Amino acid sequence: MSLPPPTPQSRFADAAQFLRTWAANPLLLGAVTPSGPALAAAMAAEIDPAQPGPVIELGPGTGVMTEALLERGIAPERLFLIEYEPGFCDLLRARFPGVTVLQGDAYALRATLGARLRQAPIAVVSSLPLITRPEAQRAALVAEAFDLMVPNGPFVQFSYSLFSPVPLKLAPPHRLTTSPWIWRNVPPARVWIYRTGVSA
Ligand SMILES: C[S@@+](CC[C@H](N)C(=O)[O-])C[C@H]1O[C@@H](n2cnc3c(N)ncnc32)[C@H](O)[C@@H]1O
Repeated sequence: MSLPPPTPQSRFADAAQFLRTWAANPLLLGAVTPSGPALAAAMAAEIDPAQPGPVIELGPGTGVMTEALLERGIAPERLFLIEYEPGFCDLLRARFPGVTVLQGDAYALRATLGARLRQAPIAVVSSLPLITRPEAQRAALVAEAFDLMVPNGPFVQFSYSLFSPVPLKLAPPHRLTTSPWIWRNVPPARVWIYRTGVSA
């Protein structure tokens, strides 16, 4: 899908809304500005658009990752976004027609999705600031995502940290890969991909 490219004005307006929301609730956002397009493209590159089924996005904010997923070839009807902040939900609904935007708590994944999914998701793409949550809650989120997804489905997460944002000892059995550092993002970040199943 080809969206009208973001303009300098729309990027500025997004950054301003992001900063205002961060000032009101820094732990909810975990970052002061939206992610850059290089990081978003690296996240989206982990999803195979040819594989049929829904894709869940957690913490879409102003929609940088959503845009990259659509550019990657995921049709809007396949995208289910869970965002806690109502102001971001309004923006996402206006910007991405056909995408399902759910206002709610991503850590209560199944409850927030309700009965909306007709098929198992092929991937969960998360920008949640996981490190603001207790380790057990992060591990429980990944376990719930694995439980929902098709076998071998990836839980894709970015992080600015040197260490896994998902606690490896508490997480369910998984295979982990990481992207190279994305230096063009501010701050530099890496993509962490956790897949169901164990390493061979
Ligand atoms: C680091 S920002 C990422 C925003 C955007 N995806 C990006 O990369 O620019 C984290 C996002 O997660 C959302 N968020 C935080 N906790 C959440 C929760 N429990 N449920 C749903 N969304 C949440 C925040 O409102 C914010 O939009």
